[in-house]
Parts: sequence; C-alpha cells; structure tokens
Amino acid sequence: MGKLYQNIWIVGCIALLASLNAVQVCSESPKVFTLEKGDLRLKLTNLGATVLSVVVPDAKGNLGDIVLGFDSLDSYKNGTLDPYFGALVGRVANRIKDAQFTLNGTVYHLPANDGNNTLHGGKIGFDKVLWKVAKIRGGAQPSIQFTYHSYDGEQGFPGDLDVSVTYTITGNKELAVVMNAKPLNKATPVCLAQHTYWNLAGHNSGRTILDNKVKIWAHSYTPVDEHLLPTGAIVPVQGTPYDFNRETTVGSRIKNVPGGYDINMVLDPPKKKNHLRHAVRVNDNFSGRILNIWTDAPGLQFYSSNMLKKTVGKGGAIYGQYSALALETQTFPDGVHHSNFPNTVYYPGQTYRHTMVYRFSVQK
Ligand SMILES: *[C@@H]1O[C@H](CO)[C@@H](O)[C@H](O)[C@H]1NC(C)=O
Ligand SMILES: *[C@@H]1O[C@H](CO)[C@@H](O)[C@H](O)[C@H]1NC(C)=O
Ligand SMILES: *[C@@H]1O[C@H](CO)[C@@H](O)[C@H](O)[C@H]1NC(C)=O
Ligand SMILES: *[C@@H]1O[C@H](CO)[C@@H](O)[C@H](O)[C@H]1NC(C)=O
Repeated sequence: MGKLYQNIWIVGCIALLASLNAVQVCSESPKVFTLEKGDLRLKLTNLGATVLSVVVPDAKGNLGDIVLGFDSLDSYKNGTLDPYFGALVGRVANRIKDAQFTLNGTVYHLPANDGNNTLHGGKIGFDKVLWKVAKIRGGAQPSIQFTYHSYDGEQGFPGDLDVSVTYTITGNKELAVVMNAKPLNKATPVCLAQHTYWNLAGHNSGRTILDNKVKIWAHSYTPVDEHLLPTGAIVPVQGTPYDFNRETTVGSRIKNVPGGYDINMVLDPPKKKNHLRHAVRVNDNFSGRILNIWTDAPGLQFYSSNMLKKTVGKGGAIYGQYSALALETQTFPDGVHHSNFPNTVYYPGQTYRHTMVYRFSVQK
C-alpha cells in the first residue's frame, strides 16, 4: 500500500506527519521529502527539485541507494563541487553555443559557465534555486509537485515562465516524472532535464558503470565538436561506438569515444502514436538491477560521468570517473541554433511538456 505523509500548512510551513515522527518544514529553506511505496523509496529536496536518493532491492533482495549525491544540502548549492547530481536542470538543459541566441528579433545574452557557452541554464540554473512545494499526495500513487516561477531576464532568458515538476510513484517499482513549463509573456527556449547519476550496483559500491550492459533505442545521434556542441548533423549510429541497439557494455568501445560518452542520442519514434518511446535499458550484472526509461522527449543525453574526479559523496563514498550514468531525456542540445532539430521555442499560450518513466526491476 502507498504511504506518504499528510500535509498541513502552518504559517508558511508544512508539517509533514510521518506515521512515527513529525518533521516541520519551512518553504523558505531546502528540506528533504520522502516518497515510498513497496520497496521503492525516494528522497527529494525542493532545492533544484532534486532526487537525493533512490533505494531499491537488488536481485537478492538487498536494499541499496543507486544514485550519486551528497549528505549535505549545502553541497548541492556549490556549483564548483556539484555536477548537477539528481537535479532538474533548466531553463535550457545542455549547452547553448556562445552563450547567446536571437529570438523575435532580439539577441539574448546568457552567462557563459562552460567555456564560452551556457550549460544547464547558466550560473544559477533551475538546479540551484529553491522550488515551492505545491502538492504532496499519499495513497496508492504517492507524489510530490515542485513549482518555480522563473522571472523575465533570469539568467538572460526572455519572459516569465511558470515551471512544474511532479514526481509520482505510479507502480510498485515505477517512478514517473512529469515536467511542464508555460511562458507567460515572451517566447523563450525551454528544455528541462532530470540529471540523476545512476549506479545500479549502489552509489557506494566502488564499481564503475563500464560493465553495465546498455540498450538504447536510437538509430542516430548528433555529433559534437571539441566543446561538446552539436555540429548540426544527424548521423546514423551504425558502425559507430554509439550503436547500442544491441545490448552492449558501456566499456567495450568507450576508448573509441574521445573523453567518454557525452552525446545526444536521437531516439526512435514510439511504437504507437502518442505512446512513450522506450529510450534506454541498463542492466547491471553485479547487483542484478535493471533500469528502463520511457519518455516522450526526442533525445537522450547519454553521459558516462567522464568529468567526475574523486568527488566525496554520501557517506564518504568516492565518485570517480565512470562511476555513474546520467540518462537525461531532452530535446536536442543547442536546439535554438539548429532549425533542423526538434523545436525548443515556446510562445505564450503554449505549454512545454516532458514526461519520463523509470522502471526498476531485477534479473530473474
Ligand atoms: C565549493 O566546493 C569547492 C570544491 O570542493 C570548495 O573548494 C569550496 O570551498 C566550496 N565552496 C563553498 C562556498 O562551500
Ligand atoms: C572563447 O572565445 C574566444 C574568442 O573567440 C577564444 O579566444 C577563446 O579561446 C574561447 N575560449 C574557449 C574556452 O573556447
Ligand atoms: C516580440 O517582440 C516584440 C517587440 O519587442 C514584443 O512586443 C513581443 O511581445 C514579442 N513576442 C514574443 C512572443 O515574445
Ligand atoms: C553475471 O553474473 C552471474 C552471477 O554473478 C555470473 O554467473 C555471470 O557469469 C555474469 N555474466 C556476465 C555476462 O558477466
């Protein structure tokens, strides 16, 4: 049965009444929330609408936390330390070339926080701001909704934008993430992405993801230049190290990919119209855990955590290079500069929508 906590508003604060203990929560400060059902248990925070932990059983029934993160919420605020662990990134996920774009006749300048380019919404992206806790629900499908009002000119982007993300445990081992954004007064690019780093063997297993077996439902990808910006080409994966149509270990061809995997995969269309597309399956033979992701987004950023360098994480765990996979469904990077890529610009009256479903299982 689903279990969550009733919520009551008390002078701007929420009192979360767990069955055993009560925690008082003020909306002005980052707090930790728990969603659980059966043997899936998540911790989230309104700082960056971030997933802090995901605990699920392995094939032998042992529970383990399979996402990278920090013990202290302060660490998630530190842009030098935090590689977007678990965060909801925006207003525009991934890179925008030369930290600028032109829209409706105006040139918009953004902060350059990745060489000369903008990464994940700028210096203070949606991952670094405090979201409101809009709804908490218990019952059969426990859920939490975070909302954020992004103001006109925030990190250089045009127009006010109302954003929401809802995390719902929809089944015993299934988590749905539904993202929405509504421009209120100006056209703006929008691309939201969930940036959890997954290590199915356990965040503290000390293992890399190089022997994870991966299948990605994508027959093309968008090649990048040396600054990880798309060239604009859309190229078949066949015969390249980006072909995961047959389940393959991450490590088997990673030496042929300069720097490791950090690439936008062009996902195949869904099997049926208006259905989610199956994006990726990760199978960790060490723990027996399997993760499947479905989405309505056209792309998947497949990132093998190339840039992690002995980051000290939860419980003192050391996260080195290749210690996790980020599996960020999204519209294509730098879409605002490539008219052949799927649209990323939304007008007042339109709604940006992005759904993803994570299903956790184990090898039989
Ligand atoms: C942020 O993290 C870096 C790298 O660990 C550290 O040197 C710096 O002191 C931290 N900044 C703050 C404000 O905690
Ligand atoms: C940024 O742009 C300037 C001017 O074009 C160039 O000299 C510099 O090398 C660029 N920096 C990076 C990190 O690409
Ligand atoms: C386009 O620009 C004009 C002039 O600056 C402005 O009045 C209008 O609101 C803009 N439209 C959108 C959709 O951003
Ligand atoms: C997967 O793990 C099982 C049990 O640990 C082992 O017997 C098997 O050889 C492994 N298979 C591969 C392909 O590594």
